[in-house]
Amino acid sequence: MFSVYMAAEPALGDAWEEWLRQHPDDVLLVGRTQDLSEAVRDCRRDLPGVLLLDDQVLAQDSLALAPLADLSCPIVLVGQPDGGDAARRALAIRAKDLIPLHHWPEELLVSLKKAALPLYPRDRQDAQVLAVFSSKGGVGKTTVSVNLAASLAERTHDAVIVVDLDLAFGDVSTMLGLAPETTIYDLTSGPIDSARVRQAVQSVTNRLSVLAAPLAPEQAEDVTGNLLVRLLEVLKDEYAYVILDLAPGYHEINVTALDLADVVLTLCTPDVVTLRAVGQALTLFREDFRYPADKVQLVLNRTGSRTGIERSDVSRILKSPVQYELPSAGSLPVRAANQGTAFVQAEPSSPLAQAIFSLADNVAKVREDASGASRRTAKRGGWMRSRRS
Ligand SMILES: Nc1ncnc2c1ncn2[C@@H]1O[C@H](COP(=O)(O)OP(=O)(O)OP(=O)(O)O)[C@@H](O)[C@H]1O
Ligand SMILES: [Mg+2]
Repeated sequence: MFSVYMAAEPALGDAWEEWLRQHPDDVLLVGRTQDLSEAVRDCRRDLPGVLLLDDQVLAQDSLALAPLADLSCPIVLVGQPDGGDAARRALAIRAKDLIPLHHWPEELLVSLKKAALPLYPRDRQDAQVLAVFSSKGGVGKTTVSVNLAASLAERTHDAVIVVDLDLAFGDVSTMLGLAPETTIYDLTSGPIDSARVRQAVQSVTNRLSVLAAPLAPEQAEDVTGNLLVRLLEVLKDEYAYVILDLAPGYHEINVTALDLADVVLTLCTPDVVTLRAVGQALTLFREDFRYPADKVQLVLNRTGSRTGIERSDVSRILKSPVQYELPSAGSLPVRAANQGTAFVQAEPSSPLAQAIFSLADNVAKVREDASGASRRTAKRGGWMRSRRS
């Protein structure tokens, strides 16, 4: 399967869209425009599997030739190869294929399949599983999960998935403007294999996917720790980064997720109530779950909110270094969530987006540096694991 972004005149665009709808198992339409600068901007940001381009649009905008040639995503051009300049333009934009306008219905699928980057590339390196946790609600877990995932997808060009494990009240999909019809609950009946997982997952862009929380809170209890163990095995074959957005608490799903994660990003805000709860969590991780120190990383969110508690106070009170500091950004996260988009995309130059990019860069570096299975197994050894064995 692969994703397609289209740039076409309305009539041809409508015909392509109709055609794409008839191939739902092969092709996912992720965007459409008739404006080439918009196409270049969107394709740079989202890296679709292929850009399907109407030569009528290209012929009107010679300034777009160079930026199109620089895109990382492959391009398939549809135009009149004889008697016009379509072939010259195809060369100029380094198109993978030029399909004759009157033959596109027969040739398009084969051409797109040959040219497109697959939606789920298998990665040779180990996947990195990150649990985003806090013992308090409302401290920014989902905000960080969604924006960290979007940043990783954009900066690494690797496949990233957010799994919404706030099973009763998850809001990952809402924050990303999705209205899922399939969720993790669909995996509770029958075996969990990659085909069924792919059906349950929603694609946000070619590199960013979401596995939504159940649509009804009462479905949450059917999602078990065992299901999560198997699900993570499948997801690690398909994605470079698996981000688990957790609810507060230490129920079975959370403890399984925490145990299986390579890194637990533990969120905290600068207020005494949260500090107290997070302090208890850190003690539990250290003494009961016996996690190695570098598995648990403290993220201080909403700094600069003049609470009278600084980063140094937090480190001292929690007896643990603050690895990441995320500034308070006023209404930015709420505005972005209301628009169903990640703020790292809507306002990438904001201080909060910049802080998340730097978090993402560190996460990516850790994955690159990770030296194979032995280190990962050692890091994961935890409470559930020791109880299970
Ligand atoms: N750095 C920040 N600056 C401003 N607002 C923020 C920041 N981080 C989070 N918020 C806001 O705080 C609220 C709670 O965030 P979020 O839903 O991500 O928290 P959560 O920990 O996932 O909550 P829950 O426990 O209910 O799942 C949201 O309105 C979000 O927009
Ligand atoms: Mg949340």
